[in-house]
Amino acid sequence: MIRCLSLQDRDRMYFIINRSARAYQGKIPDDCYHRPYMPLPELEQEMRRIAFFGWEEDGELVGLMGIEPIEDVTLIRHTYVLPGWQRRGIGGRLLDYLRQTVTTPRLLVGTWAGAGWAIAFWEKNGFGLVPDKDELLRRYWDIPPRQIETSVVLGMEVGGKIKETGRQINTSLGLKSKKCT
Ligand SMILES: CC(C)(COP(=O)(O)OP(=O)(O)OC[C@H]1O[C@@H](n2cnc3c(N)ncnc32)[C@H](O)[C@@H]1OP(=O)(O)O)[C@@H](O)C(=O)NCCC(=O)NCCS
Repeated sequence: MIRCLSLQDRDRMYFIINRSARAYQGKIPDDCYHRPYMPLPELEQEMRRIAFFGWEEDGELVGLMGIEPIEDVTLIRHTYVLPGWQRRGIGGRLLDYLRQTVTTPRLLVGTWAGAGWAIAFWEKNGFGLVPDKDELLRRYWDIPPRQIETSVVLGMEVGGKIKETGRQINTSLGLKSKKCT
């Protein structure tokens, strides 16, 4: 089941992100990897801007994905599925759901160049690597130069059409707090 996430979910989100992010160890530059990968105050800050949705199994959150419209594009942010639940289609279903909410023509996602599995996941779901990634990362993301240097961007054209579920989600995205109602 997909549901939108709120500050009440932050401890479980913190667990999922930092457990899943262990996959980065040894794959991304050592100076970019730390534990926790995303400290709680950083997650709380991200939750003020980004609308997060999660996948529940038997009432327990096991995966999450964020969406952040900026100017003329929409960014997918912070996608994590707990290791024991990966490769069962949860990431793909979260993406399918969020994709329906997108009102901009272009959907973008950034990931580490060394995270081959993540690149495979986005490509499997219709994204393609873009050539102007540095320019895009500087324009739409707020990340350090070292992360820009060691990241890639994948994009897809979505047409900006709003479907039925999209209307509901966009209503919540339109709220000032970006919290789900
Ligand atoms: C990337 C991630 C979110 C995908 O979630 P998921 O629920 O496993 O995704 P799905 O089951 O919908 O899709 C699986 C596809 O993703 C790719 N993939 C996922 N894990 C993979 C792995 N360990 N090795 C290779 N490919 C992998 C493959 O294309 C796979 O398809 P396949 O099983 O047919 O080969 C999950 O692997 C994860 O949380 N990884 C750690 C954190 C991360 O890399 N986040 C992405 C940040 S951009």
